[in-house]
Amino acid sequence: MSGTSHTDPLHLKPNREQDAPIYLQLYRRYQEAIASGRLRPGDRVPSVRSLASELGLARGTVEVAYQMLVGEGYFVARGAAGTIVSPRLGNLADAGRAKVSVSAPPPGSTPRLHNPGHLTPPFQLGMPALDAFPRKTWTRLAAHTLRTLETVAMTYPDPAGYAPLRRAIATYLGISRGIACTPEQVFVTAGYRGALELVRRTLLHTGDLGWYEDPGYIFARQFLLRAGMRLAPVPVDEEGLDVRTGRQRAADARFAVVTPTHQSPTGVALSLPRRLELLEWAHDRRAWIIEDDYDSEFRYHGRPLPALKSLDRDGRVLYTGTFSKVLFPGLRLAYLVVPASQAGKFRDMVNHLPDPGSVLPQAMVADFMEQGHFARHLRRMRPLYAARRGYLADALARMPAERLHVQPQAGGIHILAHLPDGRSDKALAMAALDGGLAVQALSDWRMRKSSQGGLLMGFANFATAGDAAAAVEQLGTILERPDVT
Ligand SMILES: Cc1ncc(COP(=O)(O)O)c(C=O)c1O
Repeated sequence: MSGTSHTDPLHLKPNREQDAPIYLQLYRRYQEAIASGRLRPGDRVPSVRSLASELGLARGTVEVAYQMLVGEGYFVARGAAGTIVSPRLGNLADAGRAKVSVSAPPPGSTPRLHNPGHLTPPFQLGMPALDAFPRKTWTRLAAHTLRTLETVAMTYPDPAGYAPLRRAIATYLGISRGIACTPEQVFVTAGYRGALELVRRTLLHTGDLGWYEDPGYIFARQFLLRAGMRLAPVPVDEEGLDVRTGRQRAADARFAVVTPTHQSPTGVALSLPRRLELLEWAHDRRAWIIEDDYDSEFRYHGRPLPALKSLDRDGRVLYTGTFSKVLFPGLRLAYLVVPASQAGKFRDMVNHLPDPGSVLPQAMVADFMEQGHFARHLRRMRPLYAARRGYLADALARMPAERLHVQPQAGGIHILAHLPDGRSDKALAMAALDGGLAVQALSDWRMRKSSQGGLLMGFANFATAGDAAAAVEQLGTILERPDVT
């Protein structure tokens, strides 16, 4: 294609006056160029470096737009051979469509946290230690599951989830999280978003207002907004969600989404008084609390805190957990525990929604849990993560204290380091991404503006102290760069 020309014939140049972030504008311009036929399947697009220099943008900005386009199948990255518009889009066109129809995401979209189909770059958030996954055991179980799967399990599966897995989850939650529930209250879902979707469809209405932690998990926030929910930001302090402010700002909310064990992303635990206040609010207003217990298994000081759900006397808490951190995210398996009083409603709804997918992975996870591998795996992973966290914390501690201040956290698989006031975490994260480091800017996770920036850094895949030190050194060089402010 001729996009490298200085006349910008594809009209890619973003407009700084617009509200949408530059990377998103660029992403949409490419989508439009493909949809209108100005760019055709197989066309080569300029390299990140040359487009950045041509349009006067930071390389990281272009990189993020390209990653989204690759991730969504518009572009194909061919390494040294350059990036092209996906030839597969041609098949669609040949199949009788004059244009490839595209729908741009609504405003407020952000870069993908995870890079689908790619191995983990240093600092990747939300990714467990893939090198430590017990693959041999898993392979053995796969063969066993395939050999012994009952014929009945080969028929249409229960949309609420494979019964032995629901039983195993209920048992596990009773022992490890203090949650008394029956398997009938457990629904297996396709990831956390599957659980949110099930709650939304069963208990909420479009336009309902919910409390959302600020800062809070960016993916669920976007998911809920796109699904038509309204979200009121509720600040988080050293005791977790500030319930009083929530009551003042949005007392009439219909739901609240919280991460009580390790607040995402700050890592603080919701204090007991706040837990009780939150439950009281839900009781008074007949609101729903969605508890996201995504990585409670990993805590390095003391015992894991019991789930908020374990205090739920009135049946207001919808509890969600995921196998993404304790096993691996490619499984796409999570679960939802609903109050006993609501189990019938949910049972009815799952019959009309997409189910959690193939029974095979569910059967494997059930076997993995029932045969004690799950508990063993967790026992092995806790000290391993504690060590890897130490590698990163030690490397960061060697940096001058005025550059980064690490927030103490009792658990989780990432570290949050605050930046000096006024320093742009977005610029830093972009520059780091340019250098292949997957740190995230805290401000991307915020709903309200704040001058306090920070960097979120995953540590699970630092196999040695040397790996962590090398990544931190590279980050240190970027922090010193006068052009990254
Ligand atoms: C805060 C939070 N909640 C939930 C999840 C789990 O999402 P999923 O089950 O879709 O992998 C994650 C994963 O990164 C997370 O960080």
